[in-house]
Amino acid sequence: MRNIVAGNWKSNKLMVEARELMVAVSKGVSIDGLTDVILAPPAPFLSALVLEAPENKSISWAGQQCSGYEMGAYTGEFTASMLHSIGVRSVLIGHSERRDKFGESEEMVAMKVRSALDSGLTAILCCGENLGERESGGHFTRVMEQLTHALHGVSETEMADVVLAYEPIWAIGTGRTASADQAQEMHHAIREFIKENWGEMIAGNTRILYGGSCKPSNAGEIFAQPDVNGGLIGGAALSAADFLAIVDASDQSLREIQ
Ligand code: PGA
Repeated sequence: MRNIVAGNWKSNKLMVEARELMVAVSKGVSIDGLTDVILAPPAPFLSALVLEAPENKSISWAGQQCSGYEMGAYTGEFTASMLHSIGVRSVLIGHSERRDKFGESEEMVAMKVRSALDSGLTAILCCGENLGERESGGHFTRVMEQLTHALHGVSETEMADVVLAYEPIWAIGTGRTASADQAQEMHHAIREFIKENWGEMIAGNTRILYGGSCKPSNAGEIFAQPDVNGGLIGGAALSAADFLAIVDASDQSLREIQ
């Protein structure tokens, strides 16, 4: 199975800088690599970047979020089908910044997963506990609750278009990473959860990414864990050199097990 390394540019860059970053990343990603590279720029740049990007079958584009509603009178929203219509192939859903800073409820996250799948996009569903939940030992319960809500009603066939991203909130943008053991332990629990609900084959085929202060210096160790299938990268995705080093670390981790 190929890994995924996804760059979440969040609310950063102006058009000219976004274009420079896209060009530098496109040049650096090998077309025969073992990693699927996904870029999630700010929504206003998506359409232009998708059109301008040099052909590279290892790279595809993602939205950082989408509406949970169909087209209609929802000022400011954009639908999963709109993203699909401009050549975007996946969308981040339920990022902790959306949940915490923009009030996205479990119900809204589930609606977005539904919209993404119905529109033919891959849903990159984010989950993860906050520091209090981790310190009180409630982290497994919290993550399984999030997955239970968000994936309710998702069929076995649709699971082929679901990627999960475990992002402990205490590690996002803080410089504090989960240890490789902490990541593996949660990723394993997530895979067991998928197995219980959709069976062993789907569990084995679902990619589970780690996110939270992932950088060139720690990516190799994290990606070497058996249940980690790549990363969702925030801060380090804003530098082409760092991001490409993380993609290399992912390729390297797969070469070692081949
Ligand atoms: P970070 O962000 O790599 O800057 O911690 C990860 C994310 O929020 O997706």
